[in-house]
Amino acid sequence: MRATSDRLLELQGSRREKLLNLPDASQSTDNKTMMDTAVVGDFRTFHKARRAPAVPMQRVTDPAEWGRGDLGDVASWSYRFTTRDHDELAAAVAAVRRNGVAVEAVRRENFPLTALAEVMADVRRELLDGRGMVMMQNFPIDRFDREACAIAYLGLGSYMGTTMSQNAQGHILGHVKDLGGDYTDPNTRGYMTRAEMLFHADACDYVGLLCLHGAKSGGESRVASSVTVYNRILERRPDLAKVLCEDFYRSHTGEVNPGEKPYFTQPIFSFIDGYFSATGAGAAIDKAQKLPGVPRYTPAQVEAVELYRQTVSDCAVDIGFEPGDIQFLNNFVTLHTRREYEDWPEEARKRHLLRLWLSDPDGRPIPKDQREGRSGRGVALKGVKLSAPLDVGVAA
Ligand SMILES: [Fe+2]
Repeated sequence: MRATSDRLLELQGSRREKLLNLPDASQSTDNKTMMDTAVVGDFRTFHKARRAPAVPMQRVTDPAEWGRGDLGDVASWSYRFTTRDHDELAAAVAAVRRNGVAVEAVRRENFPLTALAEVMADVRRELLDGRGMVMMQNFPIDRFDREACAIAYLGLGSYMGTTMSQNAQGHILGHVKDLGGDYTDPNTRGYMTRAEMLFHADACDYVGLLCLHGAKSGGESRVASSVTVYNRILERRPDLAKVLCEDFYRSHTGEVNPGEKPYFTQPIFSFIDGYFSATGAGAAIDKAQKLPGVPRYTPAQVEAVELYRQTVSDCAVDIGFEPGDIQFLNNFVTLHTRREYEDWPEEARKRHLLRLWLSDPDGRPIPKDQREGRSGRGVALKGVKLSAPLDVGVAA
């Protein structure tokens, strides 16, 4: 049952407003009208968002609840970079180069933005207190060389959070492309294959995907609201919703320090400080089943995971990836995957997305061990230096 209106809390003036030290939403919207509104899509829903404190086993009222019917054409809810934005990015890239800053050392302090800083503050706010998903379009991939793209992309991300290592090699700039990997291999991450992956969430506050090259066919992004998924499951099978609020074993996909366990535990749905959060039930839980010391799924877990996966697929929207598109997702309120795809034969045209993993210590409250673990630190292995490779090959 929906929470009654007297229980609803306005976001303005809330704890988050103080935490983020962001301007009042109405004022922020007014500022936007001073910009080129003809080309700025309306991605901001946070200014009208309402939520109620989330309580286990009750329907969740959260701005990140949305369904297929709530999204129209992607251009209507995305932000389109303007020529003026391109110029601002080019100037910031030039400053980074002029000051001899390495790509992996790009930070907010050395990547100066003005008008775009306001836009990125709103993107972050939309991820935190809105839909949990923002599309940006027309990133200047044709104007910039690969290094400038990497600098500008990392620079934009630095206005939303701290970059994190995404793999055992310490990459803070990830390359999502088909490296010929086998998705079923316990030590292979799905992003290195072209298989249709299970819906999942990445282990960080925000994931960004910048499309450099699209696939010949297929490869669409699929995204669902985990709030919507939870509410549907609760309505249909509260007994299984309860199971999904309990711990599941997950594989670290072999990315651990010597002596560390190759798995960890985490619930799929969590309730912390009145906030709902979710993680995926992707390949990591199935891969853990192959590890010694991990108990096998109970019959209730099998049933719960099956219902969860079916419900996510029922709730998901398909979003195409065009070169220059950036998709930002809050992993704790969305689930994502992509369609299987057919690639171009030429190496230079192959589907290629650049990925960012961003940590926001003031992000959505999640379980403490999750925040202090991989979701807050990334794949942080001892002795591995962070790097931002401009490309990776099959041997990487
Ligand atoms: Fe992912």
